[in-house]
Amino acid sequence: MASPQIDVDEIVATLEQIRQRGHSAHTVFRDWVNLMLFALQDRDDPYLEIVDDYRERGDMAHPDGQRSVDLFAKAFGQLQERMAATDADVLGAVYEEYGMSSDAFGQHFTPHSVCETMAEIAGVGDESDTDDRQTVLDPACGSGRMLLVAGRKQPDALFVGQDKDPLCARMTALNCCFLNLDAYVIQGDSLTVEFQRAWQTSYSSLGGSVRELDDDEVEELHEWVTDAFENTVEAENQPSPTQGADTDSEDRTPPVATSVPSEQASLGAFEGSD
Ligand SMILES: C[S@@+](CC[C@H](N)C(=O)[O-])C[C@H]1O[C@@H](n2cnc3c(N)ncnc32)[C@H](O)[C@@H]1O
Repeated sequence: MASPQIDVDEIVATLEQIRQRGHSAHTVFRDWVNLMLFALQDRDDPYLEIVDDYRERGDMAHPDGQRSVDLFAKAFGQLQERMAATDADVLGAVYEEYGMSSDAFGQHFTPHSVCETMAEIAGVGDESDTDDRQTVLDPACGSGRMLLVAGRKQPDALFVGQDKDPLCARMTALNCCFLNLDAYVIQGDSLTVEFQRAWQTSYSSLGGSVRELDDDEVEELHEWVTDAFENTVEAENQPSPTQGADTDSEDRTPPVATSVPSEQASLGAFEGSD
């Protein structure tokens, strides 16, 4: 078991009830992640498309509270409870646990204790000798676990995660939203620097929010990340040392900096959607 310190049995049991109705583990997990992400963005149409798929497969025949949409919402509540209790990457732990039974997905992420050590080595949360906002980048972010650990140490940094796996990118967007971080999460290949889509999560005193960027914003983000990376490489070739977690970009202003007027990251995001 990859994250034995995080008990995800309750959540897995709820998702398992849905799977036993004839869906694959991958479908159930993917739909759960998408439902949470669409609900938090107030995007009714794609949300209802998923709900309709279950409805067409007889979901309304189950008693109130036992329909698959109810169980997805219940798993969302359980996820939030576990996150509040553990302050950990519970979503990634569910993915690890649930993916083990599937040929279609499943991988293991870095254990939390190793993420802690790596964040310390990178100097995340250390006092900086510059007033610039620090940027923390994970170009192969998985479920976003390293960003979460870094986010607890330095919540006022800007976080950038990228993963070529669509499910992983979505999990990271959710996790950054749940942890109320300012972040950009990119779905795309870090080696070829291709961006397919991206999400922005924003801090607010009421809780995090998330929205998907449009094509122009993705392009703008692509330029900003590419410039920031090139400046980091140049800075690292200079004689004076720079702090590990800081991209040290010449233009420190991130793109599309407007705050996000969408649903806050709470169970209420599911209300009235079925
Ligand atoms: C073992 S996971 C590590 C995730 C995370 N950094 C952690 O420590 O938990 C490796 C991740 O890298 C992603 N990945 C592999 N090659 C990539 C690439 N070229 N661009 C973006 N992501 C990549 C995989 O999809 C996978 O989610």
